[in-house]
Amino acid sequence: MKNRLMVALDVDHAKSALGLRDTVGDAVGWFKIGLRLFVAEGPSLVSAIRERHRVFLDLKFHDIPNTVAQAVESAGNLGVEMINVHAGGGEQMLAAAAEAAVAFPDLKLIAVTVLTSDPMPREQARSVALQRAKMAQEAGLKGVVCSVFEATAIKQACGSDFLTVTPGIRWGNQDVQDQKRVADPATAIAAGSDYLVVGRPILHAANPRAAAMEALAMMESARPRV
Ligand code: C5P
Repeated sequence: MKNRLMVALDVDHAKSALGLRDTVGDAVGWFKIGLRLFVAEGPSLVSAIRERHRVFLDLKFHDIPNTVAQAVESAGNLGVEMINVHAGGGEQMLAAAAEAAVAFPDLKLIAVTVLTSDPMPREQARSVALQRAKMAQEAGLKGVVCSVFEATAIKQACGSDFLTVTPGIRWGNQDVQDQKRVADPATAIAAGSDYLVVGRPILHAANPRAAAMEALAMMESARPRV
C-alpha cells in the first residue's frame, strides 16, 4: 500500500521538503511536488527527492497545445514518474501532451478532471469528471486526478488499468479546509483509487509519521469494490 500513498510536499523550501521526506519517507512510495515548491526550488529539488522516491510533478499544465507539449517534454526530461495537465485544456491539448509523453515510457501522464475544491454539486462533478476522463483516455493519457466520489464510475467506464489519483483525503475529525469532496483512505481504496494524495493531514499533524502510518493502516483495511 505504501506505493499507493503520495504525500504532497506543499512546503515553501527545500529544507522543509527534505526534512519531511526524512520523517515520513519510509511510510510512502511517492512524493508530490506542486506549484509552490517547484516554483521556489525547481529541478534540483526534484532530483533530490528522486534519489529515494517516485515523484509526481503536479503542475497542472493548461495552455495552447504546443506550449503544453513542450512543457511535458521538459518534465519528462526531469525523470519524474507522473505529471499532469488540466483536462479543461481540451482534446487537442490533451492529444499534444500525450504525443510528447510517448518519448518517456515510464512517465504516467494524467489529467485533472474537476478540482476536489470545486464547489459544483457532487452529481454534476461526477458527470463532468467522467466525460473528461473519457476524453483523456481517447487522447492517450494514462489516467486522471479526480475525487474519491468519481473514481468508481471512471474505473467502470475507462477500465481498471486507467489510473485514478485522488486528493481530498481526510479522516477522523480532520478539518476539510478548502477541499469540498473529501473521503477517508479506506473509502478511497474501496472506491478504486490507485493513488491517494495526502497533504495537510500529514504535513500539519503533530506527528507526521504517525499520521502517514494511520493513513496506510486505513488503506490496508479497505476492501476494494472495483
Ligand atoms: O492538503 P491536502 O491533502 O488538501 O492537499 C491535496 C493536494 O492535492 C494539494 O497539493 C493540491 O494541490 C492537490 N490537488 C488537489 N485536487 C486536485 C489536484 C491536486 O487537491 N484535483
